[in-house]
Amino acid sequence: MSSSNFLEHRGFLMPSKYYDKDKLEYICNEFQVRDHDAFSITYPKSGTTWMQEILTLIQSDGDTTISHTVPNWERVPWLEPTLFSTNLESLPSPRFMSSHLPVHLFPKSFFTSKAKVIYTVRNPRDVLVSLHYFSKTAGFLDELDNIEELLPKFLKGEVLGGSWFDHVRGWLGVKDQVNLLIVTYEELLQDLRGSVVRICNFLGKELNEAAIDSVVENVSFKNMKDNKMSNYSTFPKDILDIQKSPFIRKGISGEWKNHFTPAMSESFDAAYKEAMNDINFKFIWDQ
Ligand code: A3P
Repeated sequence: MSSSNFLEHRGFLMPSKYYDKDKLEYICNEFQVRDHDAFSITYPKSGTTWMQEILTLIQSDGDTTISHTVPNWERVPWLEPTLFSTNLESLPSPRFMSSHLPVHLFPKSFFTSKAKVIYTVRNPRDVLVSLHYFSKTAGFLDELDNIEELLPKFLKGEVLGGSWFDHVRGWLGVKDQVNLLIVTYEELLQDLRGSVVRICNFLGKELNEAAIDSVVENVSFKNMKDNKMSNYSTFPKDILDIQKSPFIRKGISGEWKNHFTPAMSESFDAAYKEAMNDINFKFIWDQ
């Protein structure tokens, strides 16, 4: 993944084709967050699209009309890239939006609002594997790396999204000051229904049993893979070509074990321990 493809802005690395500093500064300093807004925030490859699907179906009380007719990037539109044209200001409340922003670039108005953030985190080892495959799909990423070559770049934060460690530490750092729900990709896999209920409770959304059943069924890996409005098959091929590697690809946890050598594992663990040793939070993969 060549760094020349990236715009670097205050530690955040994103494809220079689809991000610009002026917009990032506008979003940070001027974008007006409303009290009834809810954001899905992720480091890339952590379950962004999955959470978009979950939020779409929660918002529609389990009705699939929207999830089957409107592409995911329009249903839970993006805050910061220049690639999409949704005018967020004109959307009625409650707005559900997506973002990859690190906490220090997030709209300042959020921090004095009652708006909510769902922060989805995934075992960074699996994020790294997923990113590797994504580099085959994404026209804006050089597909040069095998996972072994990608690993040191990931540990240094020289990849899409910048440093995973900074991203996660940053958002964890404000968890007691703002309305923030932490959801892990792994708990979505382990207990999807329980997670959907937890998300509904956090959002103050009451769904009956049938509606919850519909959410759970329609956000399954298989149904999302088959849904043209969620699998990126309708996206411009020069940006994402799912023939090269599917976007909804494998959908498991622990795939890293098939890709990491003992030496890779050791260097990852050492970097992880050093970066995360003082966080006051135990992830499922830390136990
Ligand atoms: P893999 O590449 O490991 O399969 P993002 O949307 O943040 O880019 O994350 C993409 C990852 O989420 C991919 O992981 C993709 O397969 C996985 N994913 C998407 N929908 C999923 C679902 N319904 N169940 C499990 N994993 C899902």
